[in-house]
Amino acid sequence: MSNYKQALTNNIFKVISLASAELQLESYVIGGFVRDYILQRGEHKDIDIVAVGSGIELARKVSDLLPHKPKVQIFKTYGTAMLRAYDMEVEFVGSRKESYSQESRNPEVESGTLEDDQNRRDFTINALALSLNEETYGELLDPFNGLQDLNTGIIRTPLDPDITYSDDPLRMLRAVRFASQLGFRIEKSSLEAINRNRNRIKIISRERVVDELNKILLSEKPSVGFALLHKTGMLRLILPELIALEGIDEIEGQRHKDNFWHTLEVVDNISENTNDLWLRWAALLHDIGKAPTKKFDKKMGWTFHGHEFVGSKMVYKLFKRLRMPLNEKMKFVQKMVLMSSRPIVLAEDVTDSAVRRLIFDAGENIEDLMTLCEADITTKNPRRFKRYHNNFQVVRQKLKKVEERDHVRNFQPPVTGEEIMETFNIKPSREIGIIKDAIKEAILEGEIPNEYESAKEFMLKKGKDIGLKPQN
Ligand code: CTP
Repeated sequence: MSNYKQALTNNIFKVISLASAELQLESYVIGGFVRDYILQRGEHKDIDIVAVGSGIELARKVSDLLPHKPKVQIFKTYGTAMLRAYDMEVEFVGSRKESYSQESRNPEVESGTLEDDQNRRDFTINALALSLNEETYGELLDPFNGLQDLNTGIIRTPLDPDITYSDDPLRMLRAVRFASQLGFRIEKSSLEAINRNRNRIKIISRERVVDELNKILLSEKPSVGFALLHKTGMLRLILPELIALEGIDEIEGQRHKDNFWHTLEVVDNISENTNDLWLRWAALLHDIGKAPTKKFDKKMGWTFHGHEFVGSKMVYKLFKRLRMPLNEKMKFVQKMVLMSSRPIVLAEDVTDSAVRRLIFDAGENIEDLMTLCEADITTKNPRRFKRYHNNFQVVRQKLKKVEERDHVRNFQPPVTGEEIMETFNIKPSREIGIIKDAIKEAILEGEIPNEYESAKEFMLKKGKDIGLKPQN
């Protein structure tokens, strides 16, 4: 019997052990903490405790024994309790015979043994339990060979997968998420069961779906997860906009690339350079406007005119449908999608004024935009690959040089509206907008440097041009 005493050195485990002894019940650590300890994935801050008895009572006892007497939060519907101690969030549940899923139509669950409880969990790798009982402290209880599945990298359900997945359909997404996060394989009968049961994903709250999508996106190689979502048919139900990108059309011998698989490559590429969730979302959605804008033109071949604009509008609808935040994060994703072709166009012909405009439009997001666009280079032609990357180097150097000189990144008009009004002795009117715009344009075009004296001189000239007279 393997012993994992060394996993249980945090004081919280000693206290739970003591509390269990006082209440004369057994308790175990189960789930993610045990899994991640064995995989050496760093400390898991959420601890799940199963009590063979009342989880709520155990939580209260643990709080009593702790010096700071933490507050015990009780979730009556689920029969669980939670407290915080020693930097950990500890959740207590009594062992049960039935699934404890949120979606369960039968929340009245019967209490059961530890093994009953392990049986009703999602995967063998999440059903591993460590004893907190005095005599067997640290012993691993592993009735379904979860340890072996951990070592060989397999996602398997303890029961018949049709039962496990219908108990809580979210688990179908969790299977994919764990496969992506851990680089594991979903075992065949599980995959088949997901294919059969995928429509049940519709009853899951969108917030929980998005939680899993976010975790897939944040995994090292998100394409593993998205390819599985695709393979199991779940992607069509969750993100049909991506499925619409799949496939290659051919007319008169002209083909376009498969924008779905291209997108997954872009997401993997960007994940090598950023852990920012929203930039990864931008990579995932950067081409969604290509499906509705696709056209074949006899002269130009396949075109996707305006796909960036259409795509950025689709981002809003998609976020709204999935109940994702409609805040500045969404606006950031929209902006990235809208601007996603700008730098690559520059890579062909880098003029100072085009670079200045790019900095002006992208503002503080210029670095993120460059990261996205470089990830977008997925050509398999090594010469082209090299050329694009080299061009990007040139763009980056130019960006640096132009920004050092002109500071247009967080552009503030060098001459204010008030000064224009005073100079020409006019009230708020459209002339002020015209002059301010002309100054901005002159700076972006490189006609004048971005500084006060030159802008003022330009303002006087422009004012006269449109018939205004300076006050004195
Ligand atoms: N669990 C389950 N079915 C679910 C959700 C959770 O059986 N739909 C069980 C699993 O045993 C899981 C444990 O509850 O290990 C804790 O769930 P949770 O905290 O959501 O996940 P973790 O496994 O801890 O992993 P992570 O923190 O990475 O989400």
